[in-house]
Parts: sequence; structure tokens; C-alpha cells
Amino acid sequence: MRGDRKRVLVTGGAGFLGSHLCERLLEDDTEVLCVDNFYTGTRENIEHLLRHPRFELLRHDITFPLYVEVDEIYNLACPASPVHYQFDPVQTTKTSVHGAINMLGLAKRVKARILQASTSEVYGDPQVHPQQESYCGHANPIGVRACYDEGKRCAETLFMDYRRQHGLAIKIARIFNTYGPRMHPNDGRVVSNFVMQALRGEPITIYGDGSQTRSFCYVDDLVEALLRLMATDDATTGPMNLGNPREFTILQLAEMVIEQTGSKSKIERRPLPSDDPRQRRPDIGYARKTLGGWEPLTPLEMGLRKTIAYFRDRSLRAV
Ligand SMILES: NC(=O)c1ccc[n+]([C@@H]2O[C@H](COP(=O)([O-])OP(=O)(O)OC[C@H]3O[C@@H](n4cnc5c(N)ncnc54)[C@H](O)[C@@H]3O)[C@@H](O)[C@H]2O)c1
Repeated sequence: MRGDRKRVLVTGGAGFLGSHLCERLLEDDTEVLCVDNFYTGTRENIEHLLRHPRFELLRHDITFPLYVEVDEIYNLACPASPVHYQFDPVQTTKTSVHGAINMLGLAKRVKARILQASTSEVYGDPQVHPQQESYCGHANPIGVRACYDEGKRCAETLFMDYRRQHGLAIKIARIFNTYGPRMHPNDGRVVSNFVMQALRGEPITIYGDGSQTRSFCYVDDLVEALLRLMATDDATTGPMNLGNPREFTILQLAEMVIEQTGSKSKIERRPLPSDDPRQRRPDIGYARKTLGGWEPLTPLEMGLRKTIAYFRDRSLRAV
């Protein structure tokens, strides 16, 4: 530890997950260095932290090297939704790959523990359900999602090789669909889509009959898992699936959003795209066993309520 307090770097700290992680880290007696280039993150997400005496913000692009003194690194920097990561796919791969090399280089120099925010997308278009960590996936290296999927896969490779070659204390979290306040309103994801459509009184669009299922993890539960994973012993590297295995149909989600927003929106059905998966659900057996009984605790009803309140407040402020 440098000085009296643990010093923690969060890359992508001004983003959705990163801002919650910074907030949570500050609740412990930790110094937090938030690094972000504001590609998809905003100052608004961390505005309430800027005056905190143990919080520091650095505008920096992790595709360039960074020289700071820290004890732990959470590497979250990377656009996460298809609309954002496909906007500049070359930059997405650079952020995943060069960013990982730079952060691993930093971890090696200062002997810091380092955690990678990987994704369920490393499984590509999976042929087994639910996916366990041992499943190597079914990813397409040349498709439009590859900048993200393959970028994240390569980052995992780098993390494991820095472990094998240089003995670094690494952790890989494969994060599944997470939602909550500070999500991007226009990121094209189902939760933010439905909530925004409901708040605007627009039709809620569902594809097919809405019987396809998804699982949604509330951000606080995910952040708790990241903290616990970082605190595991050096032998625990992951990859580890993190998410909420409870399934809901898309129709159930739409109905819940309409009910909670009190919206007059009607459900509008559109044809099902050919690549729409029937089911997406993490197998979190390994996380449960390894993270001291960790379990996602926030019911969808409660998480949605907080998310809707955030989006409602945000649209009122924008008026
Ligand atoms: N939210 C989810 O459901 C989910 C699921 C799986 C994986 N993840 C992973 O978790 C991480 C955080 O995701 P999020 O949902 O908070 O997304 P986000 O877009 O809100 O956050 C990403 C942050 O990284 C920053 N960033 C992007 N490129 C950067 C660069 N080159 N240098 C510095 N900062 C950069 C952005 O400005 C943003 O603040 C990502 O790595 C993502 O792949 C998220």
C-alpha cells in the first residue's frame, strides 16, 4: 500500500458502471483515481464526487501509456453498447487491446492488482446455454461486433499471459447485461429503450412475440461482485461470469416498465431479427462459490424503479 490508504485506479470511471464503482470505493477509506476520455462517459456521472477529498479525475485516453502510483486497477474503459462501439470500431479495438497492454504494463511496474471488465460477448453467438466459463465461445472474427467481442477476447488473452509470463495478480470478470441509473438513454439496449419510450409516451417496440428471455443485473449487485473478485487471493484469476441468472421475457419487462412509469404507451410488435437470441442467461455457479456467497439481491421491480426515477429526473432537468 502506498501511504496510509489504498489507492485505486478506475479506467472508464465516468461511465455507467465506473461511476458507481468509484462511488462505492469512496465509501471505504480508499483514494480513487478516475481516468476517462469521456468518449461515452460524462462529467455529470461523477459531478457529485468531484469535491470529495479522496477522489481525483484525470482526462486521459488509455490507448496511451499512463504513469501513476496505484495499488489496484479496475480496467473498465471501453464503449459497451453496439451503437457506441460500432461508431468507431478501430478505436474500440485499440481501447480494448492497447488499453489492456498499457494498464497491464502499469500494473507490472507498480505491482498493482488488476481487474479486467470483460463481457459475456466473448462467448459470441453461443451454442450452449447457459454459458459456463469453460465454454470457449462461438465468435465471428470479421463481423461488425468483432471490434468489441474480439477486442475483449484479446484483452483476456493479454491478462492471462501477463499472469503466466510476469506473475501479475489479475482478475477477469465476464459481465452480463447490467442496468441501473446513469445508463445511456440512447444506447439501444432493451431496458433504456423501454424506459425512454414509456416516459415519452411512444409505443414500446418488441421484436417477435416477446417470449424471448433476458436476464438483468442491477448495477449495485454487479459492483459488489467486482469488489469481491478484486479481494480474492492471487490464485483466483477468473474468468468469472457475473450477472443475474433470473430470467424475464421481453414482454414481462415491457409490461413492468409500462406499469411503473404509469405510461399510456402501447406495445408495438415488430418482426424478429434472425440473430435475436432466444435466451441469454449467465451461469454464476463459480462466482457464488468463490465470492463468499455473493448473489444478486436486487429484484427487477426495485432496480427498475430506481432506473426509471433516474431517467425521469434527467428528462425533467433537460427541459
Ligand atoms: N453495462 C453492461 O451491461 C456491461 C456488460 C458487459 C461488459 N461491460 C463492460 O464494462 C465496462 C463499462 O461499461 P459501461 O456499461 O459502464 O459503459 P460506458 O460506456 O458507460 O463506460 C465506459 C467508459 O469508458 C470510457 N472510455 C472509452 N474509451 C476510453 C479510452 N480509450 N480511454 C479512457 N476512457 C475510455 C468512456 O468514456 C466511458 O466513461 C466496459 O468495459 C464494458 O465492456 C458492461
